[in-house]
Formats: sequence, structure tokens, C-alpha cells
Amino acid sequence: MVALAEELFSLKGRVAFVSGASSGLGLHLAGTLARAGASVVLAARRVDKVSAAAAELTAQGHRAHAVALDVTRSETIPAAFDAAEEACGKPVDVLLNNAGIVYASKFLQQEEAEVSRILDTNFKGAFLVAQETARRMAKIKQGSIINVASTAGLRAAGMMSSYAAAKAGLIHLTKIMALELAGRGIRVNVICPGNFETDMHDLFVSSGMDKTVLERIPQRRFGKPQDLDGVTLLLASDAGRYMTGAVIAVDGGQSLSWM
Ligand code: NAI
Repeated sequence: MVALAEELFSLKGRVAFVSGASSGLGLHLAGTLARAGASVVLAARRVDKVSAAAAELTAQGHRAHAVALDVTRSETIPAAFDAAEEACGKPVDVLLNNAGIVYASKFLQQEEAEVSRILDTNFKGAFLVAQETARRMAKIKQGSIINVASTAGLRAAGMMSSYAAAKAGLIHLTKIMALELAGRGIRVNVICPGNFETDMHDLFVSSGMDKTVLERIPQRRFGKPQDLDGVTLLLASDAGRYMTGAVIAVDGGQSLSWM
């Protein structure tokens, strides 16, 4: 049984690209993908951070590389994938489309520049990264794209209009991509995390929103990056081979509760 599970979830021989891998969920899940056998490419704006993380994984006996990527600067996207292919000697076949930023403010107070920043990173940036990956995966007729949205994209929550709308857009985009790309051997799924303890979570703590949010989580705790290991490996590996267009909430039951 262990052997079957290991084989099913193995990523040996795969190349996994993680956007926004300099901290939080991306950094943790890059390690998870590497430990499952993938050659991992950690991509972010802060090259010093991803280089240090790649060096640490390499020292632990895994295969890891760092590349520069700013998802709001479209010219950096093909360059990052060229660098990834060169470093790994083969094209990317797993994408964790994870880079994102959050912002909390009331709808009436959101400034245009802030709306643009949020949509450019969380929607347009994720769109362009997924598109570049899919174009390359189409040539090898295989691949798994995992978009990282949010439970904020599944149901209405105050104070995050542009963020939640961007994530809802990413969820819908996932379904369209799954529909269009299945015939090319590419699976596309989306993970919707609830509230996880990362740098992003600090905003909830500093604004005092964390206590109210915690009361709405049936499991009565925030998520930890490790809570996403299972779903990430499922979607990345052959274990999830018949899954495409799936929207998976990982939130301790939060999206079930409305009070
Ligand atoms: P984080 O702030 O630790 O990580 C976000 C990563 O994205 C960072 O490495 C950051 O440098 C990178 N990034 C931001 N803008 C970028 C850009 N223009 N180009 C390249 N990289 C960029 O936050 P966390 O929590 O790890 O977030 C990861 C993803 O999970 C995000 O998409 C976020 O929206 C999503 N998420 C997080 C939740 C949480 O509670 N922490 C809840 C739901 C979704």
C-alpha cells in the first residue's frame, strides 16, 4: 500500500515551477514538490531569497533552481521559463501558480492605483503565467497547472473587493482553461485556501480581523502551509490524473459557515 501511494504521488522526472516561491505557501510547497522527487524551479522577484531556498533544498539532496520573475512585468515571464528549461534540461510539466498580494479596505475607499496593483498581480499576472506555461506544455502534450485562488473568491467577504474579485476570476479562468486544454493533455485545477499563517495572514492579525475569522472556522484553527501538501501532490501527480477543472477549498470548513 505504501509503495502504491509513493508511486501514485511521485513526481520523479517532473519539473515543477512555483511562482511567488520566496515566502509563505509557495516557499513551503516548493519543498514539498522537491521532496516528492520533482526538479523544482523557485520563481520570485526577490532572487536572493529564492536562491537561498534553492541552495538549501539542493544541500538536502533535492533538485532546485531559482529564477527571477515579476508577474506584473510580462517580459519576465517567458524569460523565467527559458531559464527554468535551461536549468532543468526539460520543459516545465507542473505549475504552482501561486504569486499573489492581498489588500484590505472598504470598496468605497479603494484607490484606482490599488485596484490595478491587485488585479495586475492576482488576475492578469496569474493569467499570463498560466498561458505561457500552457503554450509550452501543449508542445509536450502533458502538464498540470495548479492555480492558487482563495475562499475569498468563492463567497463574499467584506474589505477585499478587488482581491476577492481577482480570485473569483482566477477560479472561473481555471474552468475555461481546463475545458480548452484537456485535449492537449493539460490538467488545470484550482486550490482555494482559507486563512493560512503566512506573511499575508499578518494583515489579518494587525487589523484585528483574525479573531472574528477564527470564530467562523469550524475546525477553530488557521491553516498551516503543510495543510496544503496533500492537495498539491494530488493535483501535481498522476494520482490526480482524471481531475481537471476542480475547485478545491482547503479551509477547515470555513466556507461552509456564514456566521
Ligand atoms: P506571501 O505574501 O507569503 O507569499 C506571496 C508570494 O507571492 C511572495 O513570495 C511574493 O513575493 C510573491 N509575489 C507577490 N507579487 C509578485 C509578483 N508581482 N511577481 C512574483 N511574485 C510575487 O503570502 P501567501 O499566504 O504565501 O500567499 C500565496 C498565495 O496564496 C497567494 O496567491 C495568496 O493570495 C493565496 N492565499 C493565501 C491565503 C493566506 O491566508 N495566507 C489565503 C488564500 C489564498
